[in-house]
Parts: sequence; structure tokens; C-alpha cells
Amino acid sequence: MKLILLGPPGAGKGTQAKRLQDRYGIVQISTGDMLRAEVAAGSDIGREAKAVMEAGKLVSDDILIRMLAARVDRSDCSKGFILDGFPRTVPQATALDSMLASRRMELDAVVELKVDDAALTDRIAGRYTCATCGAGYHDDFQKPRTAAVCDACAGTTFTRRADDNRETVGARLAAYHQQTAPILPHYAAQGRLQAVDGMADIDDVTKALTALLDGLGKR
Ligand code: AP5
Ligand code: MG
Ligand code: ZN
Repeated sequence: MKLILLGPPGAGKGTQAKRLQDRYGIVQISTGDMLRAEVAAGSDIGREAKAVMEAGKLVSDDILIRMLAARVDRSDCSKGFILDGFPRTVPQATALDSMLASRRMELDAVVELKVDDAALTDRIAGRYTCATCGAGYHDDFQKPRTAAVCDACAGTTFTRRADDNRETVGARLAAYHQQTAPILPHYAAQGRLQAVDGMADIDDVTKALTALLDGLGKR
């Protein structure tokens, strides 16, 4: 299964992609996570991306398109993937179309997580991640079962993203509306675009997504 999860910052793309990868045996490809790994490693791409990401702007199409093409060619993608954070501009969407066509691959669905802008700042400001295994949490909406202990790996060290502050969220939302939302008509025109209510509880969003994806297999 090949899937794109679309939605503004904080919509729940990463949260849901992690659940879907376990259920369907496909891999989450988060371009944000890949870029953060480059920043942490101090690579050339990381040095170029760091300030752009901290300002809440988009890293260049050229870097992202090359990064994604190399990623889908890795063997763990053979059963399928969930794109989380890519494409994010019309040129990226067009490049993805050719990338998939040249590999004789086809998207099964493009799902937009619909969320009110007003909810996103609180979601992002409260988010944190297990430093050991990457499991995601939230101060109010997704607490670990035991305070300050990761459910998945029992780790006790957590991190917050450099771009997860109220000032940067505004710029990230503006980038979404100006540069990413225009890809919605691109996929609507292909007849692939579907929407799920991202304002529901995390478990209910998962249920809606799995109902939609299970339905695709039966077509
Ligand atoms: P990226 O890492 O992709 O960030 P983003 O798109 O801003 O999205 P987020 O990761 O913030 O949100 P999410 O939808 O994954 O939400 P989550 O599940 O964590 O990109 C970061 C930066 O990298 C970009 O700004 C850009 O600079 C660069 N970049 C990346 N890709 C690029 C590309 N293709 N081109 C150019 N530049 C690129 O949920 C958020 C929080 O809310 C969590 O704490 C969660 O627990 C909680 N939550 C989730 N769902 C719910 C719910 N239903 N109810 C209540 N709480 C919920
Ligand atoms: Mg994410
Ligand atoms: Zn963990």
C-alpha cells in the first residue's frame, strides 16, 4: 500500500503514520524526521536545512526530491510506504508523480487530515518525543501510562523539537496554506484525494483511517 498523509503541522500525520505502519507492515517516510537526522548529524544538507526549519519555512524542493527518491528505493519500502510531510509543494507533487511512474508504482490513496488551525498551536506546543525510541507524546492529549516513562521502551529521556514553539508555528501554518494546500486540487484532479476528520480523538482518527484503507483493498 502506498499512501500520502496530508495536513498542516500538528494535524497528526506522524502519530497516525506510526500506527498505520504497524498495522499494514509498511514504512513511515517522514521527511521532517529525515531532515532532523541530517541536522543532528551535521551533514551538508543538515547545515543548509537547520535555519530554514527553525524559521518554519520549507527546505528547497531540490533537496527534498532527491532525498525522497533515494528513500523509496530502499528495500524496506517494497511492501509500501506512508509519506508523512512529502510532497509539500506543487513541484514536489509533480516530481513524485514522475518518480512513481518511472518505478511503475501507483498511489493507493492521498488522505487529508482536516484540522482547525486554532487547535494546532496547542498540539504542537505540548508535543514531546522519547529520545530513545522516538515514540510521540503530548502534555495533555497523549501522556505515557507512567509519568515520565516511555510506554514503548521504558526510556526516561524526552526531547522537544526546535521548531515547536508558538512563534514558529505561525510561520509553519502560513507555509502550509501558501505552499502545501495548493497540492490538494492536484490530487483531487487525479481522483485520489480523501479526507478524514483530524479533530476527533487520536484513536477515532486511527479507526477512520483504517476503515478507509481496509475499504480500498476491497474495491
Ligand atoms: P515536519 O516534521 O513534517 O513537521 P510538520 O508538517 O510541521 O508536522 P508536525 O510533525 O509538526 O505535525 P504532525 O502532523 O506529524 O503531528 P503529530 O502527529 O506530531 O516538518 C518539519 C520541517 O521540516 C518543516 O517545517 C520544513 O522546514 C521541513 N520539511 C519537512 N518536509 C519537507 C518538505 N517535503 N519540503 C520542504 N521542507 C520540508 O501530532 C502533534 C501533536 O498533537 C502530538 O503531540 C500528538 O500527540 C497530538 N495529537 C495528534 N493527533 C491528535 C488528536 N487527534 N487529538 C489530540 N492531539 C493529537
Ligand atoms: Mg510529524
Ligand atoms: Zn521510547
